[in-house]
Parts: sequence; structure tokens; C-alpha cells
Amino acid sequence: MKLPQRGRSAAAILDELDAMQADDVDWKSGRAFSLAYYPGPDAYALGSEACARFQSSNGLNTAAFPSLRRMQADVVAMMADLLHGGAEAAGFMTSGGTESILLAVKAARGRGRERGIEAPEMVLPTSAHAAFEKAAAYFGVKAVRVPVRDDFRADPRAMADAVTPDTVLLVGSAPQYPQGVVDPIADIAAIALERGVSCHVDACMGGVTLPMLERLGHPIPPFDLRVPGVTSISVDLHKYGYAAKGASVLLHRNKELRKHQTFVTDNWLGGLYGSSGILGTKSGGPIAGAWAVMTYLGEDGYLRLTREARAATEALLAGLRAIPGLRVLAEPDATLLSFTCDDPSLDAFAIGDALGKRGWVVDQQKPPPSLHGTVNAVHGKVIPEFLATLREVVDEQRGRGATAAQQAYGTVE
Ligand SMILES: Cc1ncc(COP(=O)(O)O)c(C=O)c1O
Repeated sequence: MKLPQRGRSAAAILDELDAMQADDVDWKSGRAFSLAYYPGPDAYALGSEACARFQSSNGLNTAAFPSLRRMQADVVAMMADLLHGGAEAAGFMTSGGTESILLAVKAARGRGRERGIEAPEMVLPTSAHAAFEKAAAYFGVKAVRVPVRDDFRADPRAMADAVTPDTVLLVGSAPQYPQGVVDPIADIAAIALERGVSCHVDACMGGVTLPMLERLGHPIPPFDLRVPGVTSISVDLHKYGYAAKGASVLLHRNKELRKHQTFVTDNWLGGLYGSSGILGTKSGGPIAGAWAVMTYLGEDGYLRLTREARAATEALLAGLRAIPGLRVLAEPDATLLSFTCDDPSLDAFAIGDALGKRGWVVDQQKPPPSLHGTVNAVHGKVIPEFLATLREVVDEQRGRGATAAQQAYGTVE
């Protein structure tokens, strides 16, 4: 497309935008077990309006936008409270889980440098998110991956064995993405404490859900800043905070640890420049969107959404277990799960593709080849319909031996 010679009418543009969305997955109707989260029409509309009002305010300089400073401080304080950070906890909002993880790794590297470590390493289970590999590549930190146990949880003993004098960071997830289980954070953090290195908890998925599940009476292993040795924790508001995309929080145990996240220079003709994250200019929209949705929903709203998401997860689990040839990989601790095929004539990726053709998006992953469901409140209405489609697809494919290559979780083109 070339820039149009003459501008077009707003009405024509909005019509075309609607038309373009026609082929997108219908996530507000619960067709995406991945990528998008729907809190219902009221909270969604409020989040959109708040984002729109602050879309061109610039979070780079909150001295010029005290509104953003206040909203960011409020959002961070609300999360610090939910994650038991106490008065010492300090953090910033970021653009998402990946940025929070990048900055957690950068912070650990900075802390390691103070101890003279120039070839830093981090020890993490094979289940920790791909964003840690990105951080390793961007920041020159060696990623030492340690196999998970048979229950897909991190293996703290094996992690302890992988620690070297160059280790700056240990990682655990709450829950990890691939099978939805919470790592033994207390054991991982104890190793970090003993060795005097950082411990990051990736609660991008569970940072809101797990505190709510705990309040609802589910047994949740300790995973947050209550655990001695945890130095930072990430939580994505654009996931189970049900806020607009571009909102995450990286929380450190204290300001001293947070200082390694930020960047300051005066080595150019523009003078003193400081930023809290990877981005320079950043839209105030996601900050206002998160603030609005969090304060609109409140604890009551999150309890309701979490109850609905967990009930949908349990209904999906029961349905999957009733389909011969499929096997759920692990009992999920929160609202994420994955399943594989035990029947050799079935192929997880071929099933995933067939579901895709019927308008359902489920992530495909390996090893082992499996399908992944990120279940949110909106799925409460659609589990029976999804299971009926899945049964149909499995019955069609059983005995036929169809296979397919994995569809990637992200895109590069
Ligand atoms: C456990 C976990 N950490 C980090 C991320 C990365 O988050 P984002 O895609 O917002 O960058 C994800 C994304 O699904 C995740 O599941």
C-alpha cells in the first residue's frame, strides 16, 4: 500500500477496520484459548476509553504527566499488596511479560557485576518462558537450562547443581506456561539466598490469578514476595488482569534491587536521559487502561473472573479426560493446561490445525507435541461447544494417522 494521495473519511476507515477484523479469531466469544482475555463488555469498554484518553500521553517523562506517575504508582502498589511486597517493594510498569523478564535479567546481571561477575549465567528450568532466551541473547547472559521433573515442575536439586560462581539468577514460574504448574519457588529461592544471587519469579500468568485462587480456598504453594530469597516478580496485567495490551509490572523486593533495572546516561548532546525500561517514549494508554480496569473490577471483580476461569478450566479438564486417546500432561495449578495424544494414530498438531479451521485457536507446543489452553473467564460459556468440536475432530482423525508440523506461538514475518 502507498500513502493515499488524499485522506479518506473516518467512516470509511472504520468500516474497513471492522472488515479486516472479520478474519481474526473471535476472542470475545471465547474462541481463543491463547493471546487474549475478555473481562466482559463493561470492563472492556472502560479499558478502551481510558486507553484512548491517554494514548498520546508519554510515560517516558512522568514529570510532565503526573497523571501517569500517579496511575503507575497506584498499579504497582496494588500489585505489591497482592504479592505481599510490603512497604519496601518497588517497581515499574512495563509493556508486557517479555519486557518485565528482560529487565529482571538485566537487573540480575547488574547486581552480579557489582560482585565482579563478567560472564554471567542464569539457571532456569526447561519450562521457563522463551522470553528468558531473548534476555539471554540481548544481554549476554548464558541460559543454563535444567530439565524439569516428571511432574513438569522445576527440579531445585538439579538447579542447585547447575549453579556456578558466575550464576547471577535463578528462575521459577508461577505457573509456568507449557503445562500450567507452579514451580517449587520456596526451594529455588532458598538456593538463591544461600548463594547470594537473584531469584526471579515469572508470575506473568499467575500474578493476579493465584492470589485470587488462594482467597477462594485453593491450596496455592508460596510463590510471591513472602518467600525469602525472591528478589523480583513479574505479573502481566494484559493477561489475567484483563487490562488492555501493553501492561505488565516488574516488582523488586526493594529499591536497591530495582536500581539495576533502570538506565541513565548523559553521554550525548541532549544531556541527562533516564528511563525505567526498554522503551523510550511509551504510550500512557496501557497505564491508564490498567489503572481503570483494576480499580473498576476491584477484588470482587477479580474473584468472580477467577472463579469463572477456574470453573471453565475444571470443565475443560474433565472433558479432555473423557476423550479416549488424549492425555492431560499435568494437573493445572491455575488456569493453564496442555494435553497430548496417546493414540499413535492421532497427532496433536493435526488436531490443532483442524480446530483452527473451525475457528478455535489453541497453541501448539513441544516437547512433547501437545496442545495448550490458556483459559479465561470468557470460556465459561463455550467449553461444551469446544469439547464437542474437539471430539468431532478426534473421531475424524482417529485411525487415519494424519500429521502436521507445529504452528509457532509467535511470528517473525
Ligand atoms: C509464563 C509467561 N511468562 C512470560 C510471558 C511473556 O509475556 P508477553 O507475551 O506479554 O511478553 C508469557 C506469555 O504467554 C508467559 O506465559
